[in-house]
Amino acid sequence: MISDISNTAAKVDLAFLYITGMSVVLLVLITSFMVYSLVRYNVKRHPRAEQIEGNVATEIILTVIPVILVLVMFYIGWTNFSYLRNAPKDAIPVTVRGMMWSWHFEYKNGKQNDVLNVPVGKPVELILTSADVIHSFYIPAFRIKEDAVPGMKTHLWFKAGEIGSYDVFCTEYCGTGHSHMVSKVVVMAQDAFDKWYAGAGAAGKENKGLQLLQAKGCLGCHTADGAGKIGPTFKGIFGRKTVILTNGKEREIVVDEDYIRRSVLQPAADIVKGYPNIMPVIPVTKDELDTIVATLEELK
Ligand code: CUA
Repeated sequence: MISDISNTAAKVDLAFLYITGMSVVLLVLITSFMVYSLVRYNVKRHPRAEQIEGNVATEIILTVIPVILVLVMFYIGWTNFSYLRNAPKDAIPVTVRGMMWSWHFEYKNGKQNDVLNVPVGKPVELILTSADVIHSFYIPAFRIKEDAVPGMKTHLWFKAGEIGSYDVFCTEYCGTGHSHMVSKVVVMAQDAFDKWYAGAGAAGKENKGLQLLQAKGCLGCHTADGAGKIGPTFKGIFGRKTVILTNGKEREIVVDEDYIRRSVLQPAADIVKGYPNIMPVIPVTKDELDTIVATLEELK
C-alpha cells in the first residue's frame, strides 16, 4: 500500500495511510458504540433515564489516547515534511522553467530538454522558476508538487525507485493552454542516462534544430507541420506575407531573418494579426538563435 515508485511517494503514502487508517478505526469504534447505545438504552429496555456523574478514568483515557494519536500524526507529518523540503547535497540539480504552455529542463552541463530525464535511484533536485505567470509543477506518481513563480526560485527533490515514464502536469490555471502544459519524467537506468547526458545525440542538423525548438518550448505554441496552434505555424514561415501590429499599427511584411531574430528576442515588438500577445522572452544564446533561424528557414 506504500508505493516505492519514489522515496517521496513512500513518505507521503505513510502519512496518508496513517491518517486514513486512524480515521477508519475511529469511525468504526464511534459508530459501533453509538449503535450499541441506541439498542442498550432504548426506551423499552431502559424506561427511566439516569443521571450519570463524571468518571475520572474515562476522561483521562479519552484525553490521553487522542493526544497520542495526534502527536504521532504530527511526528510523521513534521519529519517527512522536513525530509521532503531538504534535498541531499549530492542531488543532481535540474533547472525547471515553466512558461505558457510548456516545461523546459536544463541540466548542469547545459543540456536542455522538454522532458525530465533522470537516472533511477539517484536524488534529483528541481530548481523551479517561471518565465511569465505562476505555474505549478506536479508529478502525481511521486506525490510532489510545487509552484513555479516568476522572479523566484522554488525547490523540489525526489529519488525515483522504478524505471518508467511518469506524467508531469501544470496544476495552476495559467491561461488557455493550461491543460496542454504537460510533460514526462523519464526514469532511466544509470548507463542509459549517462549516455544521454554526455551525448549530443546522433541527430542530423534539421533534427537538432527541431530538438532545440522543442527544448525551448517553442513547439508548445507553434507547430512545424502547418497545423494551427496558439501561435502561427513555423512551416513555410520564411518569405510568408504577414500582417503584423507594431505598437498597435497594422503593416504588412515579408518574414525574413531580421524579423525572426527580433520576434525571438522581443516577442512583444511585432504581433502577428489575429494572435494574442502572450509569447514570453525565452533566453537563447547567440548560437541557439542562429540555429533557430537556420531551422525555420528549412521548414518549407
Ligand atoms: Cu502552467 Cu497551468
